[in-house]
Amino acid sequence: MLNRTKWRVVEEACHLGEERERWASAQARGAVGAVTSWGAGMPGREMIRLYWEFDGGPVPEGEDLVEENWTSHWRESFRTTQVSRQLCLVPAWEAVSPDEARCNLRIDPGMAFGAGDHPTTRLCLRLLEDLSAAGKLPTRFLDVGCGTGVLALAAGCLGVARCDALDIDPFGYAACRRNAELNDLQHKIRPLLLSLDLLNDRYPLVAANIVVGQLETLALLLRERVEPGGRLLLSGFEATHEERVVRALGWPVGERLEEEHWVALILRAPKEG
Ligand SMILES: C[S@@+](CC[C@H](N)C(=O)[O-])C[C@H]1O[C@@H](n2cnc3c(N)ncnc32)[C@H](O)[C@@H]1O
Repeated sequence: MLNRTKWRVVEEACHLGEERERWASAQARGAVGAVTSWGAGMPGREMIRLYWEFDGGPVPEGEDLVEENWTSHWRESFRTTQVSRQLCLVPAWEAVSPDEARCNLRIDPGMAFGAGDHPTTRLCLRLLEDLSAAGKLPTRFLDVGCGTGVLALAAGCLGVARCDALDIDPFGYAACRRNAELNDLQHKIRPLLLSLDLLNDRYPLVAANIVVGQLETLALLLRERVEPGGRLLLSGFEATHEERVVRALGWPVGERLEEEHWVALILRAPKEG
């Protein structure tokens, strides 16, 4: 059965050279029974070919390739998810039950990642709620790699006044913008279609749920965006790569959560002076 998260993993894996094999074999094995059409310009067939090659199976050709509609597959698998006491993710096309969590975040994922179907998203959301419960959620927040904008939506709902949500993927930017409006949080959330090096602000809290190789590449830029004494919430990697990520960022670990071998951490930036 085609699973949207796993498909996305395949896509990211195919663009990440050295990490391709690990991600494809660990996360996508057996996940893909059909080729999804990504629409004009999206290299769906090429990605699936790479995946099959890496998995050692015969590469499907011609009529073996079944074009299926991505969005309808995805809609079928997206269910209301109670992530934590206060945070619940609700498909945009479903009614919100009034007795659910304080923050019923309505999500229309479109083609973007971040609907709570992956452990890393849920772990980040739980850490955001923990900060909120401890009275440590600041007034400004930056989400690097926002996808659907789910982390910014949660932060905004939990009380953060200004959330910048950045992605280099136009699908992420569009979904984040749409979801901010759906949740009436457009006054708090600023979607940015930018690469991180073009941003100058510093924030008391920065999140990045991005694959490990990207976290390493972005390590310096991420550190530069965090205020002295601020927090950096990281996920997107498994426990086996935790040390690698912590080494690249070079700051002490404050909080840590793990689910199904996936990890999320909050690192603490040193205070200046
Ligand atoms: C795993 S998704 C996370 C989405 C969402 N924040 C969540 O927690 O579910 C990673 C996102 O990071 C984006 N991304 C990857 N590399 C990036 C980079 N160098 N700068 C900004 N965004 C990036 C991808 O386009 C994707 O939307």
